[in-house]
Amino acid sequence: ATNRTFTMLKPDAVEKGYIGPILEKINAAGFKIVAMKMTRLTTAGAEEFYKIHKDQPFFGDLVKYMTCGPIVAAILEKENAVEDFRVLIGATNPADAAEGTIRKLYAESIGNNAIHGSDSDENAAIESAFHFSGREVFSGKFF
Ligand code: CMP
Repeated sequence: ATNRTFTMLKPDAVEKGYIGPILEKINAAGFKIVAMKMTRLTTAGAEEFYKIHKDQPFFGDLVKYMTCGPIVAAILEKENAVEDFRVLIGATNPADAAEGTIRKLYAESIGNNAIHGSDSDENAAIESAFHFSGREVFSGKFF
């Protein structure tokens, strides 16, 4: 069924000018952008967004990196959105990512890995609500 996933173009990708090329890949893969904004996470915001990782050794670096500059947050709609988007972005570590995937093309390292994709429908809903109000999400009659 058609459903939604949440993504962020991370600070490394924004800084290097990859917003356009990455959105092009997302469009070409058949995802519809139903919400989008450029924003910057606060430290408290990043700690909340990534709280499931709070006991990981990389948590401090993750929060520092995700707050170091602007990100582009978006909600994407497509059949089988969560799973298909994770295929499009590739493995967390770009060294393991398949050819042609967004991380293979644009990510620097496992930490600075260019893009986020929700790992479940439940998390997609939670992450979308973290960044967007109802009025900022478009669908139905607009498309
Ligand atoms: P993502 O899967 O979008 O969300 C969690 C992030 O934590 C992940 O992307 C990476 O950017 C980061 N991360 C995961 N594992 C490591 C690791 N071993 N070292 C550094 N960062 C990591």
